Amino acid sequence: GFSWKLNDHPKLPKGKVIAMVVLDGWGEANPNQYNCIHVAETPVMDSLKNGAPEKWRLVKAHGKAVGLPTDDDMGNSEVGHNALGAGRIYAQGAKLVDLALESGKIYDDEGFKYIKESFETGTLHLIGLLSDGGVHSRLDQLQLLLKGASERGAKRIRVHALTDGRDVLDGTSVGFMETLENDLAKLREKGIDAQIASGGGRMYVTMDRYENDWDVVKRGWDAQVLGEAPHKFTNAVEAVKKLREEPKANDQYLPPFVIVDENGKSVGPILDGDAVVTFNFRADRMVMLAKALEYEDFDKFDRVRFPKIRYAGMLQYDGELKLPSHYLVSPPEIERTSGEYLVHNGVSTFACSETVKFGHVTFFWNGNRSGYFDPSKEEYVEIPSDSGITFNVKPKMKALEIAEKARDAILSGKFHQVRVNLPNSDMVGHTGDIEATVVACKAADDAVKMILDAIEQVGGIYVVTADHGNAEDMVKRNKKGEPLLDKNGNVQILTSHTLEPVPIAIGGPGLAPGVKFRQGLPGAGLANVAATVMNLHGYEAPSDYEPTLIEVVDN
Ligand code: 3PG
Ligand code: CO
Repeated sequence: GFSWKLNDHPKLPKGKVIAMVVLDGWGEANPNQYNCIHVAETPVMDSLKNGAPEKWRLVKAHGKAVGLPTDDDMGNSEVGHNALGAGRIYAQGAKLVDLALESGKIYDDEGFKYIKESFETGTLHLIGLLSDGGVHSRLDQLQLLLKGASERGAKRIRVHALTDGRDVLDGTSVGFMETLENDLAKLREKGIDAQIASGGGRMYVTMDRYENDWDVVKRGWDAQVLGEAPHKFTNAVEAVKKLREEPKANDQYLPPFVIVDENGKSVGPILDGDAVVTFNFRADRMVMLAKALEYEDFDKFDRVRFPKIRYAGMLQYDGELKLPSHYLVSPPEIERTSGEYLVHNGVSTFACSETVKFGHVTFFWNGNRSGYFDPSKEEYVEIPSDSGITFNVKPKMKALEIAEKARDAILSGKFHQVRVNLPNSDMVGHTGDIEATVVACKAADDAVKMILDAIEQVGGIYVVTADHGNAEDMVKRNKKGEPLLDKNGNVQILTSHTLEPVPIAIGGPGLAPGVKFRQGLPGAGLANVAATVMNLHGYEAPSDYEPTLIEVVDN
């Protein structure tokens, strides 16, 4: 039968302290002025890259290598950390929703049948990110769902659209709104009462994560459920255009607005008897709203009104909490992660990041599962993030504090694995502020130094890698790789992730002398890291894991 027991690695010892460092949004790209990692002073990461060639390599972090539908899909933290922790490639949410829509299975399953019960007398509300970024949601999936639901009896539909500018270029929200508006107009021609009801920028309205700032979710609640917002418009395209005119306005941070009728009444509050679907497939930024929509007992903000609705997520967002209890598509069944194996084999783990990335090294790492496998062998520490700011204002973020915690955990002698996520290059990269991103990259490099110094002190091993690219290319490029200009002749700043590979480096005094990266794995990706780390802990990986990146040569 099945056993959690891992085989001993034939050559590598147990008991070494391993620092597992994930630099968020740190890819490898051509050195130029838009490569903030290149521009920044990063002596530690440079020395890893320029050190022994058999201890540094690149791995794939985008597309099919991490379970995304195509190789045109950039990497992201969810699929990146899933792959790092699980050691296998799972068809991810984006792909699973595509398949369910394509086959029509989505309409036969429990979740859709459940919300359908409201179609006769209630309104169907669709809440989510309006984007073709493919990180949290996709516009074409929303379009298919609108079509499918209306063909199956939805008579009154309201869309609550969150604008992106983070996984796609800033300013693209206008075009997405127009597309949606067109689709809804076509539905109206068919006699379906379909409208956009509310909106707002994803970073200011609704899509907070890991409970960093509940005000964000409250602003969304007020607009979506209560039909109240500081800005009222009769047309969503106009709303976005107008709100973008404010100085410093951008898609990510647009204030909340509601659409009102000619009497000034909001067209789509969520009422008793309605159905609600949150159409993002990615979990982290939907969990908080899902709790507000689903939990009878809830004290994070005053909901004022808690409508009796039929609610389904596009996916189930948290398998441990079973949240939400109804969903349209089953999430990837990520099981037997490396963390769970290691705990069963006596490996003790410390994991840490600041709030905005805390769930990445815990929840995502453990296969979208919250909580501990075995609290006696694990300690997860969250450093509170600054909230209510854009991180270009404080590009160093909590990198130093994370590194100090990691250092202390390494020196404590209590842990075999000390795992961190350093958020700077990603979170500041997403702001599109190049100067600040350069500062961010240096801060991450400083943090790596502190962790590597501690590893040196205890005779441990380090594994330094990243989850996807971001800061290494801050400009939108044409097919030839040249920066694209906007109509004013300025380069188009890329706030999103990239398709670039990421580095992985191994080393430290505890690394056995003959350990090096194998030849012959040119297509290796993030999913190959788990087996590698298991080896370094002294174990062989389960046979269905993606192959290890290392070999041990006898000298
Ligand atoms: C976000 O949610 O901030 C971005 O859409 C993706 O960033 P992440 O995958 O690095 O978290
Ligand atoms: Co990111």
